[in-house]
Amino acid sequence: PRIVVLAGGTSPEREVSLGSGKACAIALARLFPTVFIDVTVEAVPPGIDPRRDVVFSTLHGTFGEDGAMQQLLDDAGISYAGCDRISSELTFDKERTKRAVAAAGGVVPAGVSFTGDRKPNCAELIRALGGGIVFKPKCGGSSVGLAICHGVEAIDTKLNNITSGDWLAEQCITGREVTVGILHGRALPVVEIVPRSGVFDYQSKYTKGLTEYLAPAPLSSEMTRELQESAERAFAVCGCRDYARIDFMITAKNECFLLEINTLPGMKETSLLPMGAKCAGVDFTALVGELVKSACE
Ligand code: DAL
Ligand code: MG
Repeated sequence: PRIVVLAGGTSPEREVSLGSGKACAIALARLFPTVFIDVTVEAVPPGIDPRRDVVFSTLHGTFGEDGAMQQLLDDAGISYAGCDRISSELTFDKERTKRAVAAAGGVVPAGVSFTGDRKPNCAELIRALGGGIVFKPKCGGSSVGLAICHGVEAIDTKLNNITSGDWLAEQCITGREVTVGILHGRALPVVEIVPRSGVFDYQSKYTKGLTEYLAPAPLSSEMTRELQESAERAFAVCGCRDYARIDFMITAKNECFLLEINTLPGMKETSLLPMGAKCAGVDFTALVGELVKSACE
């Protein structure tokens, strides 16, 4: 087959996506005839041949990661690597993901979802979630729009500033941040994220030197196993396919909270899932080869 890499897109994660796509296209070109397409409108780009082509998408965020592109590819009879439409749609919504994971016995932060025109009041929210609250867009990635607020004043100000959109307020879990890549349903080694600022926000994610990564994470073998099993369970429960990356916080009491599932995670050579794969002895080229394998069959 020929691999068609789709990247860019129209979401706030466009630049991140182009970085992922270019890196993957270079690696895939060592294995298959490969073309790279910068997606600039919300449609399947012309020129993809359902008989010959397999799509590998690194379109992060809205349209790429929320099931919309997957639906269009399904309708056009084009096969693609990664999660299908239904699991993409489910996991793109952090609230629905947490509900699905919790129903299967997983531990997730308490949360309240709301819209800009129907907001909870500050006292209500603090009663439900405590005095440290994380605000995030219900659907979105790369921490765009994330705010961590401590205390009545900060929480009240944030609530007042929200005027539109779908939001999630979550109990702020402090501790160690780790992530687990999944490849063909099996967990890769755990990677720990140590942002110098204390918060793994957009800047810490994409500015060189602002975050230290420990791969594999220096955790007990029991803790590692627990995280890997939780990640594999969440992947299965949400009906994911091929690969994903699942983020957790570990508290001082060694409780592991699942934060979210990323179905099209960052895929530069230095991104988190490739970092985990490398710890397992799978280099970047071999990894992208694995990611497209099922779609090529
Ligand atoms: N949303 C970004 C790309 C990630 O999950 O890595
Ligand atoms: Mg994400």
